[in-house]
Amino acid sequence: MIPISDQTKNAAVIGDPISHSLSPRLHNYLINKYKVDGLYLAFKVAPENLNLCLKSFAKIGLRGCNVTIPHKEAAFKLCHHLSSTALATKAVNTIIIKEEQLYGDNSDGAGFIENLKENYPQFNLTAKKVVVIGAGGASRAICFALIGQKIQSLTIVNRSLQRSQILVEDFQKISGLENFQINICDWPNYQSTLDDCDLLINTTSLGMKNMPEMTIDISNLKKSALVADIIYKPLITDLLKIAKQNGHPILTGIGMLIHQALIGFEAWFETKPQVDQKLINLLLDD
Ligand code: ATR
Repeated sequence: MIPISDQTKNAAVIGDPISHSLSPRLHNYLINKYKVDGLYLAFKVAPENLNLCLKSFAKIGLRGCNVTIPHKEAAFKLCHHLSSTALATKAVNTIIIKEEQLYGDNSDGAGFIENLKENYPQFNLTAKKVVVIGAGGASRAICFALIGQKIQSLTIVNRSLQRSQILVEDFQKISGLENFQINICDWPNYQSTLDDCDLLINTTSLGMKNMPEMTIDISNLKKSALVADIIYKPLITDLLKIAKQNGHPILTGIGMLIHQALIGFEAWFETKPQVDQKLINLLLDD
């Protein structure tokens, strides 16, 4: 039996579909591990019910929720307050509720940085030349976080050039980012970006289970360049497999998944958890 009290802290994940979400597994593992007086549930919420759902969460005192596909952009529009990273991303994956107000955040960028720092504490992002493949929501969150880490340069390679251009235009409008120059590169010309790259990040779905393979050839990348993928299924994507064979340090996506979740966990349950191998295994288990 799960003990509850009048002080039980409740949080949830909402999406449609929802059965694929790993968030309940992750949060409930940590609730048990740290003996938190908390509950984490999952709700399948149809798009037309999102507004009512969030209003109801606020009314009944949920601490907050995670937001997954297809609600991240719609939730962004429904929050009363938005973090700077949510504004840059135009999507919300974490909501904190306080006094019936919805505070929207996007924890993907911070999750990426935390994962990088945990696995490569010596890899100082300052003055690094970074190439990001992709210009979708995850890319936006990661690019925003990278700029915040004072990287030297950022180049975005995306199939749709227009989407990269929109990202750059949006970022130029964000206070504090006006002077940071983001380079964009046409997908067919990606090779030219790899020569002096220190960190290559795949934020696209290429290489994910049941998706087309990543076709980018990284043989020109210097050996010290770190190659990161945000995909965690499979844990070692073909991009990472080749990078490892070529002698590059690699970073898988599982740590980003965990760290982006810990941001919500800490806010809702007022406990700072540590990543452990049991949690990683639990999430990688099919
Ligand atoms: P997320 O929120 O996970 O970032 P998204 O916003 O849908 O998802 O972005 C998906 C990214 O994967 C985009 O950069 C997309 O490229 P386009 O902007 O050109 O669509 C990229 N992507 C998806 N399928 C791709 C493919 N077959 N080839 C190249 N890029 C692909």
